[in-house]
Amino acid sequence: MEGGGTPPETLKEERQSGCVPPTSLEGNSLKKSSWGFLFTGIVGGTLVAVYAVATPFITPALRRICLPFVPATAKQIENVVKMLRCRRGPLVDIGSGDGRIVIAAAKEGFTAVGYELNPWLVWYSRYCARREGVQASAKFYISDLWKVTFSKYSNVVIFGVPQMMLQLEKKLELELEDEARVIACRFPFPHWTPAQVTGEGIDTVWAYDASSFRRSKKRP
Ligand SMILES: C[S@@+](CC[C@H](N)C(=O)[O-])C[C@H]1O[C@@H](n2cnc3c(N)ncnc32)[C@H](O)[C@@H]1O
Repeated sequence: MEGGGTPPETLKEERQSGCVPPTSLEGNSLKKSSWGFLFTGIVGGTLVAVYAVATPFITPALRRICLPFVPATAKQIENVVKMLRCRRGPLVDIGSGDGRIVIAAAKEGFTAVGYELNPWLVWYSRYCARREGVQASAKFYISDLWKVTFSKYSNVVIFGVPQMMLQLEKKLELELEDEARVIACRFPFPHWTPAQVTGEGIDTVWAYDASSFRRSKKRP
């Protein structure tokens, strides 16, 4: 039967020369494989993005001292601000999370700094500080709290975990000036006697004065 299309001899020649135009079957499989590549790309990209975002939140739990991101409650922040009344000088929040304490302190007129290990939280804190109009007095740095020296701060805020408080107590005793005040949220320091305590339950906040914890060092 005579039909249209390429005569069989031409096809044979094209096949021999290696320049065969794709048949519709080959075209379909090419289309399928491009969809396959696209799908693999999207799934792979999504997994990489999820990994990049989630890892900084998960790794604190794998450290020797597990200090996860748990943001301060509004009441806790209110109690911290109460403990800062009549205080002056630079303030630091050790493990600043999403920056809420630093931003609250900056709104109270402090030059406030947050050190935080998780870069996403630092970038988000910077964004929030800008949004709240305190970017000039609220600064955030990606840093490991154990590698920072806190000697220049007269107001130190920490929302830590019980496992780290003894080690931090020793570090701050060595580093802080006598006029410094340390404010602990939710978990107190093991050996220091607080000058003031406010709030209750998870919102409890303790304030310690360096002059008095230096004098009454009674650790074993
Ligand atoms: C309990 S949250 C407190 C967050 C914030 N200060 C607040 O009160 O909302 C502790 C923060 O410390 C951070 N962190 C954990 N290990 C750290 C380290 N070695 N150096 C600096 N920050 C750390 C965590 O990522 C988390 O954001």
